[in-house]
Amino acid sequence: MGKTYNIAVIPGDGTGPEVVREGRKVLSAAASKFGFKINYEEFDFGGDRYLRTGEVLPDSASEEMKKFDSIFLGAIGHPDVRPGILEKGILLRLRFELDQYINLRPVKLYPGVATPLKDKGPEHIDYVVVRENTGDVYTGSGGVTMKGTPHEVAIQNMVYSRMQVDRCLRYAFEYTRKRNKRKTLALCGKTNVLTFVFDLWERAFHEIGKAEYPDIIREYYHVDATCMWMIKNPEWFDVIVTTNMFGDIITDLGAITQGGMGIAAGGNINPEGVSMFEPIGGSAPKYTGKNIINPLAAISCGGMMLEHLGEEKAARAIEDAVMYVTANKLKDMGAGKMGYSTTEVGDLVAEKIGRG
Ligand code: IPM
Ligand code: MN
Repeated sequence: MGKTYNIAVIPGDGTGPEVVREGRKVLSAAASKFGFKINYEEFDFGGDRYLRTGEVLPDSASEEMKKFDSIFLGAIGHPDVRPGILEKGILLRLRFELDQYINLRPVKLYPGVATPLKDKGPEHIDYVVVRENTGDVYTGSGGVTMKGTPHEVAIQNMVYSRMQVDRCLRYAFEYTRKRNKRKTLALCGKTNVLTFVFDLWERAFHEIGKAEYPDIIREYYHVDATCMWMIKNPEWFDVIVTTNMFGDIITDLGAITQGGMGIAAGGNINPEGVSMFEPIGGSAPKYTGKNIINPLAAISCGGMMLEHLGEEKAARAIEDAVMYVTANKLKDMGAGKMGYSTTEVGDLVAEKIGRG
């Protein structure tokens, strides 16, 4: 018997529990096939708990999470809770307190999946966005003065330290090297306007690249142009590294080019600590409990988690099985349009892993 992994599971809100259930089903199939064990412990963080108890996240939560090998999260966001409370109080708080400074978001079009991009197929859409995950306007630096008067001023600062920039860039260079595709890392910024922050990013990018990663080709794109090229020439990209806010925006754009929220997976990574894997799509309240939501994003998150834990063969088997299912089974990636229920999609992937 191989290793045992202890995983904290946060099913969360809306369709979160449904997709997490299928993710676990597939993880278990991979574990028995590849000879390791997974212990799960569930945590009820989310909107229902908040509405019941008034507490968003216990103060002990991140210390508790540090005892696990990884966190597997479904979705956070509840229609009866004002926007921001749960997102900031659970998701962003965990990302910050666990110092998950990388948000890794692959943009990959699987076979059989429709893309809105004309004349593009799986051979054109296969890159990874490394989104910095602790800095930028997300830090909460800023404030409001003279609120409610005609003189009201609101400030939300774009904050980056050299340390944050360096560690993110090093991760991105290492990732590009390990990925070993086109060995090209593109920095996505806005050097023509945000001259303080992107001067820092650009200098660090070339300094580190030149000194430590001479084998990696460096490219630079403004964020607005990045959006254009992600649509027109996605095949140009191998790995993109960018700031927190720009990364948030361009990865939704990327997600729709790979078939939408049902399929887009991501990982909040602390390379030296505990990481948290979560599908990019939200809690989709209107589909809750109907067993029609697409669980492939959550299933792929499970694959990313196993890769992160060092179970690379099992991770590849999950991705291969997902690709088999998109290519041969599902009619569409949208909720209620797949031709199968949420449960059946999980079964299809798990069975394929079992068959090999
Ligand atoms: C994401 C989400 C979050 C973010 C929200 C829910 C706080 O949009 O993971 O991309 O902005 O990071
Ligand atoms: Mn987002």
